[in-house]
Amino acid sequence: MSLSPSYQSIFSSFIKSPVSTPAYIYSNQKLIQNISLFSELTKKHLIQVHYAMKANNNAQILRMVKDAGLSVDVNSLGELTQAMKIGFLPSNLIFAGVGKTDSELELAVKLGLKTIKVESVDELLVLSEITNHLGISANIGLRLNPEIDAKTHPYIATGLATSKFGIDKRDIDQIISILSNFPLLRLTTLDAHIGSQITDLNLFVDVFTFLSNQANFINKKGFSITDLDLGGGFAIEYDGSGQSTLPELDTLFSKIALLNNGAFKISIEPGRAVVANTCAILTRVLYTKTNGDKNFAIVDAAMTDNIRPSLYGSVHPIVKIGQGSVSETLVYDVVGPVCESGDFLGEDVSLSQCKRGDFLAILDSGAYTSAMASNYNMRPLLPEYLEKDGCLIEIRRRQNVNEWLENLEIPYEG
Ligand SMILES: Cc1ncc(COP(=O)(O)O)c(C=O)c1O
Repeated sequence: MSLSPSYQSIFSSFIKSPVSTPAYIYSNQKLIQNISLFSELTKKHLIQVHYAMKANNNAQILRMVKDAGLSVDVNSLGELTQAMKIGFLPSNLIFAGVGKTDSELELAVKLGLKTIKVESVDELLVLSEITNHLGISANIGLRLNPEIDAKTHPYIATGLATSKFGIDKRDIDQIISILSNFPLLRLTTLDAHIGSQITDLNLFVDVFTFLSNQANFINKKGFSITDLDLGGGFAIEYDGSGQSTLPELDTLFSKIALLNNGAFKISIEPGRAVVANTCAILTRVLYTKTNGDKNFAIVDAAMTDNIRPSLYGSVHPIVKIGQGSVSETLVYDVVGPVCESGDFLGEDVSLSQCKRGDFLAILDSGAYTSAMASNYNMRPLLPEYLEKDGCLIEIRRRQNVNEWLENLEIPYEG
């Protein structure tokens, strides 16, 4: 396996001054590299980039995104609050999500967000009531279901005819007639997000063509759609090499610019491609054992810290840190302490023989890992560190079990 230099730096910094495990460690250098590639795109192709913070909502990463002049796409009140705390201007924020609550929509209208994405006729009607009641207009986008197969894992394919996401083509006429009657709802954007971990970038050309045809059709009815949002979904190689589809985005957006010919402003919402290959989970081997013909390395990280292997069958490369003298290679299931057979971080992983106290790194763990972490089995959320110039800087504290339980408690005298 050819490891990216950023992982090599993470490992040498960890060996030099280990932090307590399990922990997420991010590479400052790789984050800068990925974020810069996207800010280059904004400069060269005038693409607007809204980082999908559902991939990773760490405050330091968001600060880096903001400092590079990019904005964010939020999906809940929590993400909206976090984005504003970091200093993103509401007028640059996009609010997406198939099930926004009434109070989330009301807040989005009051804050004057850049775009509120609407995903159903029902949601549009609720939004029209809210804007009428408040007497405030709102910029809205329609997330359409383009019925394009992203050719990815079914759980992260979101543009199929039967997905819960987006507006069915058959509902577009009804949406248009509702919009004609509610001048406070200003339709500015058409959007589609067909899925995640998309390796065939030509699908984004199909998305662009679909959206621009729809926008031209709708604009003929007296609307002024100015923006097309092609969503996120750009893939990375889950092999520890640091490779992603990013270098190909330049060619993709040159192609789209030719087709677009300045007709619409184009935006994208990358998440995974910004963060996935910037982080390793450092974990310690607690025990090893052999049950039947299976060798297990039982580690202190778990499915609660990276649910992707159990949820999607994702394969993250796992390597041993500071191997010392080379020993026999064995095949292990790397499993956590949680009471589920689905609690594994890697299956059939070849590692030089493991023993209690060895350290392993689960690579490419920057996207949909800490953001999807849970407290199952009452496990505290892990700390996060940034590896910068050979030092590990804490950027999120380990959840303190006592404080956490205290905050949950409601005094009850019954
Ligand atoms: C609406 C929307 N935009 C953007 C993204 C980011 O996708 P990715 O992380 O694959 O780039 C997602 C993720 O599922 C999404 O649902």
